[in-house]
Amino acid sequence: MNVAYFNGEFMPLEDVRVSPLDRGFLFGDGVYEVVPVYGGRLFRLDEHLARLERSMASIELTNPMTREQWKGALEEIVTRNASGEQSVYLQVTRGVAPRNHAFPQDTAPSVFIMSKPALATHGGKPLRAITRADNRWDRCDVKAIALLANCLHKQAAIKAGAGEAILLRDGQLTEGSSSNVFVVHDGRVATPSRDNRILAGITRDVTIELLRDAQIPVSECVVSEARLRSADEIWVSSSTLEITPVVELDGATVGNGEPAAMWYRVNELLQGLKRSLTAA
Ligand code: PDD
Repeated sequence: MNVAYFNGEFMPLEDVRVSPLDRGFLFGDGVYEVVPVYGGRLFRLDEHLARLERSMASIELTNPMTREQWKGALEEIVTRNASGEQSVYLQVTRGVAPRNHAFPQDTAPSVFIMSKPALATHGGKPLRAITRADNRWDRCDVKAIALLANCLHKQAAIKAGAGEAILLRDGQLTEGSSSNVFVVHDGRVATPSRDNRILAGITRDVTIELLRDAQIPVSECVVSEARLRSADEIWVSSSTLEITPVVELDGATVGNGEPAAMWYRVNELLQGLKRSLTAA
């Protein structure tokens, strides 16, 4: 049975009932997180909860739970669902209120958490990607549930026989439709700096940390479209994709069209970190 959490209660996922007046349903008025679970443990939970708190503050949504309450509910979801690798999804919306663009007063936010099994082999499988103009809003740092633009980009990639859309704004790389992006030139790694145009990915931070610890040069900087297109390697990162090599961009091979040396290194570092957590 797949157990979910909804507004204080644990129940089978299929029994969760959401009001059509929920502002998440009507306006996409809410924020979310996706947290991977390795060896039964929520990976980088404090970092995910800190980002959730920032997202809520950015949209003036009052946090309905303390950090300890969040942890309690999330850990219980992990325990109640199958052990092993999972992907936990949580979202908070501004709650149920008569439809009106203006925020309701004194409405309790709706909190929903669910988990699904993550395939151990999911991350790292080479992807083809396309580029698209990044026409999203200017608060991409907020992990908002309103993802229509991202879905349109992803679907365009699927239609083109690819797995991810890499977005460009004003001649610069921003991120993927549901991932951050890294480029490699001559053994040096670069990724766009954190600002309002990208989500500050937790996997992005882990990747940077792993590279720095291994003394591999990595910089957070402007990455031009030309740097993207001339990269020896391109990787995308997310809590579900882990660090995945992109082997083709807009039909042109990246490097020799196969996962390459730097990706093997960084992926081994990530898998080593995961193993150490599972063993701990
Ligand atoms: N998305 N950028 C965007 C637009 C994303 O949607 C995501 C992740 C990331 C990577 O963030 P992180 O490393 O913290 O997962 C970057 C999740 C997985 C999703 O929407 O399902």
